Amino acid sequence: MFAKIVLVAAVAAIAEARFGQEGAIQATIQGLSSFGNPGQAATLAGQTPGVLLAGANACAKLSLADQIVTALGNDAAVLAAAAQLVGAEKNFNPSAQSIPTLCSDATLPATAALRGIVPLVDPSVTGAEVENANAATSLQTPFSATGLSVADVAKAQGFTNFTAQANA
Ligand SMILES: *[C@@H]1O[C@H](CO)[C@@H](O)[C@H](O)[C@H]1NC(C)=O
Repeated sequence: MFAKIVLVAAVAAIAEARFGQEGAIQATIQGLSSFGNPGQAATLAGQTPGVLLAGANACAKLSLADQIVTALGNDAAVLAAAAQLVGAEKNFNPSAQSIPTLCSDATLPATAALRGIVPLVDPSVTGAEVENANAATSLQTPFSATGLSVADVAKAQGFTNFTAQANA
C-alpha cells in the first residue's frame, strides 16, 4: 500500500516534470519582451500551450515558431526560444493514442535556423530513446532537412513509430 503510494507519487512527479516544459517554453517566449512590439512576445507566449495540447495539429507549433521569429526578429535569443518550441514534446494522452503525431509538411518550419530540429516524444513510446536522443542532438546541431518535413527528418534519423500529420 505504502509502496504503491510512493510509486504513484514518483510517476506523478515525472509526468509533472515533463509537462513542466510547456510552462518553461511559455516563460522563455514571454522573456523575449525586449524584441518586437510591446506585448507581442506575451501574446505569442500565450499561444504556446494551445499548440502543445495533445489534440493540437502537429504542424501548429512549427507555424507558431515561424511567427515568433517573424514578429520578434532573428536575434540568437529569439531563435533559441523558437527552437525550443520546435523541439518540444506535444502533450500525449496514452489512453487516447499509442504513438505520437509529427508534422509531415515539408515547408514547415519555414525559418532556415529552425529546420532539422526533431521533437521529444513520450518516453513510454517504443523507440522514444532514439527520438529523444535525436531531439537533444538536433537542438545543438540540426539534422539535414532540405526538402524534408519534421516527420521525414525523424524517420531519416531512425524513429518511425509515429503518425505523420499534414498541416490543417
Ligand atoms: C509503437 O509504440 C507503441 C507504444 O509504445 C507500441 O505499442 C508499438 O508496438 C510500437 N510500434 C512499433 C512498430 O514499434
